[in-house]
Amino acid sequence: MDTNGKLFKKFLERENKISDQFSSENAKKQHAKGKLTARERIDLLFDKDTFEEIDAFVTPATITSKFGKITESYGDGVIVGHGKISGRLVFNYAQDFTVMGGSLGTVHAQKIAKIQKMALKMGAPIIGLIDSGGARIQEGIASLAGYATIFKNNINSSGVIPQISVIMGPAAGGAVYSPALTDFIFMTNKTSYMFVTGPSVVKEVLNEDVTDDELGGAMVHCKKSGVAQMMFEDEEQTLQGVRKLLTYMPSNNMENPPVILNPDEIPEFNEKVRDIVPDDPNKPYDVKEVINQIVDPNTFYETSENFAQNIVVGFARLNGNTIGIVANQPKVLAGTIDINSSIKGARFIRFCDAFNIPLLTLEDVPGFLPGVDQEHMGIIRNGAKMLYAYTEANVPKITVILRKSYGGAYIVMNSKNIGGDFNFAWPTAEIAVMGPDGAVAIIYKRDLAASDDPVTLKKELVKTYRDEIANPYIADEKGYIDEVIDPAITRKKLIVAFEALQNKHVATPAKKHGNIPL
Ligand code: HXC
Repeated sequence: MDTNGKLFKKFLERENKISDQFSSENAKKQHAKGKLTARERIDLLFDKDTFEEIDAFVTPATITSKFGKITESYGDGVIVGHGKISGRLVFNYAQDFTVMGGSLGTVHAQKIAKIQKMALKMGAPIIGLIDSGGARIQEGIASLAGYATIFKNNINSSGVIPQISVIMGPAAGGAVYSPALTDFIFMTNKTSYMFVTGPSVVKEVLNEDVTDDELGGAMVHCKKSGVAQMMFEDEEQTLQGVRKLLTYMPSNNMENPPVILNPDEIPEFNEKVRDIVPDDPNKPYDVKEVINQIVDPNTFYETSENFAQNIVVGFARLNGNTIGIVANQPKVLAGTIDINSSIKGARFIRFCDAFNIPLLTLEDVPGFLPGVDQEHMGIIRNGAKMLYAYTEANVPKITVILRKSYGGAYIVMNSKNIGGDFNFAWPTAEIAVMGPDGAVAIIYKRDLAASDDPVTLKKELVKTYRDEIANPYIADEKGYIDEVIDPAITRKKLIVAFEALQNKHVATPAKKHGNIPL
């Protein structure tokens, strides 16, 4: 072809129009807000020079509405395509706020829907970079229909390919519900926010003054509402966080996660683990110390770190293989299970189960959190979520009881009878219907009331209860746990046990779907 000829010049002119659209003027507007452009984000997210864009030249729909005009653009405010992350195929769409506020019109929606369908067909993860004012007002009902198609695709892909949403600016109106239907939501502190209706509507309807950040900033959603799982301080760190999370996942539900061996020498006998749980059962400790001493070094990737901190969830590697960890956190609310921690745990367990990620449970739980608030807000319905999720999950499931394992919480945390494959306990474990104080108060109520020295009597009875009942040996003798182990060999035990479970297959009864208590 003659590269100085008319045909080639026309081709180059079109190419230049795309780069003009990402002119320094538009980039400046984004940078002034502490944000990157859609193309800069894609460059950071994907392995160098691997991103392939499609539909770059599509133009917005022509609309006849007299309300507002549609800005002429190539691409209609969203870049879609595929590339490689750590060498693996990933699909992506990235909204461009500089084109009509990243709002979603007919063509914009068609592009996203097309890439969603491709990702599902190819069995590869999809990542949405969201920076959008929601449904494009000028295109009216067509925008709503576009969102509906995207939501439907999200739901069809749920449990088949990992779906990740990264909020990188506003996500308003319809823009929030696609992320809400995906597996993980990332946010950047101070520059991203999500709300169904923004501060101006809140002011109009409720006469309340609130800023974007106060209403739906990263802190709000990662700490209070639990809508988002991950928060980082700038966009680059956020995108690095997404890349890292993907290393723990398979590309789809028919595959296993990649095996990534750790080059470090890791001791199989680790005496440090013996010293983490204090002898005094009322003393708190940080369960993350236990996790970090058991898994491959520096592989623990915590999700939902700031929400419901009485339970810790996240991914890690054990001998190079991804596992999902659910651990009670004794240093927050004594590790009790409340509504939020049950929801957090259940959602994480269901993700792991959908994507063939074995589950490790580290248990130290005195029970469900009591109280009027919890009861009235539905701890019964919500607490049942984690019970349901654990029981339903048929990936390999192992529990290690570190210390307390009382009552309903004993059952919930992957006990043998709900399907734990291997259940181990440390010598510090206390497994019983309830804690010593409660048990003594109920069983010896009359004796304590009649005693001249109820304090000493109670102390003695508590000791007897601990010696006779609240220890791991009765459960061991009756087969409710498989073995009491030395904490120092926990890592080795888990590696061998997960290896033994790698071909686990469970036949489930035919049904349309279960009815998890929502
Ligand atoms: C069309 C929009 C738009 C929208 C923003 N723009 N949102 N155009 N439809 N939904 C345009 C603006 O007109 C402006 O165009 C440009 O994008 C940048 O917007 P600004 O307001 O100047 O930016 P900023 O001050 O940063 O504010 C961003 C914003 C605000 C917070 C997102 O624009 C906003 O509140 N937008 C509306 C959000 C909203 O209520 N969406 C819900 C839609 S209804 P120019 O030409 O001036 O540059 C919906 C229902 C779906 O989504 C429900 C499904 C379940």
